[in-house]
Amino acid sequence: MGAVRLYVTVVAATLFAVTWAVQGCPPSDLAALMAFKSALHESKHGIFNSWVGTNCCHNWKGISCDPQSRRVADINLRGESEDPIYEKTHRTGYMTGTISPAICRLTRLSSVTIADWKGITGEIPKCITTLPFLRILDLIGNKISGEIPSGIGRLHRLTVLNVADNLISGPIPASLTNLSSLMHLDLRNNKISGELPQDFGRLGMLSRALLSRNLITGTIPSSISQIYRLADLDLSLNKLSGPIPATIGKMAVLATLNLDCNNISGRIPPSLIVSAISNLNLSQNSLSGLIPDVFGPRSYFTAIDLAFNKLRGAIPKSIISASYIGHLDLSHNHLCGRIPAGPPFDHLEASSFSYNDCLCGKPLKTC
Ligand SMILES: *[C@@H]1O[C@H](CO)[C@@H](O)[C@H](O)[C@H]1NC(C)=O
Ligand SMILES: *[C@@H]1O[C@H](CO)[C@@H](O)[C@H](O)[C@H]1NC(C)=O
Ligand SMILES: *[C@@H]1O[C@H](CO)[C@@H](O)[C@H](O)[C@H]1NC(C)=O
Repeated sequence: MGAVRLYVTVVAATLFAVTWAVQGCPPSDLAALMAFKSALHESKHGIFNSWVGTNCCHNWKGISCDPQSRRVADINLRGESEDPIYEKTHRTGYMTGTISPAICRLTRLSSVTIADWKGITGEIPKCITTLPFLRILDLIGNKISGEIPSGIGRLHRLTVLNVADNLISGPIPASLTNLSSLMHLDLRNNKISGELPQDFGRLGMLSRALLSRNLITGTIPSSISQIYRLADLDLSLNKLSGPIPATIGKMAVLATLNLDCNNISGRIPPSLIVSAISNLNLSQNSLSGLIPDVFGPRSYFTAIDLAFNKLRGAIPKSIISASYIGHLDLSHNHLCGRIPAGPPFDHLEASSFSYNDCLCGKPLKTC
């Protein structure tokens, strides 16, 4: 009995392997990939030299297929990589051309990574929003222009949306907040304008929201503080105004908050000083009032940068009870009075306190 079962298993396995090799990828996927390839040009590494024959699932650089359905599941083309194919050319590639809408005919795509090619232009095909299985869209480091497709919210499985370092303009689509699986949003260094959606907090799975170096206006939606998993919020180098919502300081795992280089006004919420945040950059805004006198053992900062604001009053005495302050920058404000003496300050240099109205004491001149 055992031998028969073994025989059956071997036959089945052989049949499967033969079918696998003969079948290749479906002709429709093959045609879509050929159309996708013909819109791109890369000569340095010869990435597309491997795209020959009819079995796109076998040894095509950057292509992988679902083992059961034999449909194309991943496109993974990176211009900067540790892959040996790049070794001779210092690991950096260059590709021109555009992303063909033919990519949308690969209806089982789970991930699309076309990253760091520097020269790819054109727009994100609008039809990309019709790929129901898409989990990863990573187009970082190209010259892609146009807008984020307005229907992006249809991609309800999307976990990663990374279009950083491109030339994307226009608003953040209202539908984006429908991406209930999104964990990583990276829109840095584009030309995105308009306001943040007020219901940004609906992105309940988000752990990193990186939107720095854009042209985003309006205020910080307080709904952001509902995102329980958010660890890293970078809204720096935009045109945001209005106050910092106090509830941001109550977020359970928010470790990095970068709001520098905006036009944020109002007071520093005391909650930020006794929060989970360890990396706080509020420099180059219009923050006014006093630095909250609420530092305590829960205040642990690898860096706290409040430079170039309109802060006044004294440096709060409680600051010496912080458990750690690695880097502190209070320069270019209107602070006055004696710099507290204590462990968090022993290693700080004069530049941390310079350009204020009348601060004194170590490391500045004696009072
Ligand atoms: C978000 O999804 C809901 C439910 O699927 C839908 O009714 C709504 O129109 C979507 N919003 C946007 C802006 O696409
Ligand atoms: C910054 O905001 C203040 C109001 O809070 C406004 O008076 C000022 O004009 C703004 N500055 C810029 C550069 O937008
Ligand atoms: C805070 O942001 C400013 C302006 O973008 C930058 O120059 C500074 O280095 C940042 N501070 C820290 C501690 O990273």
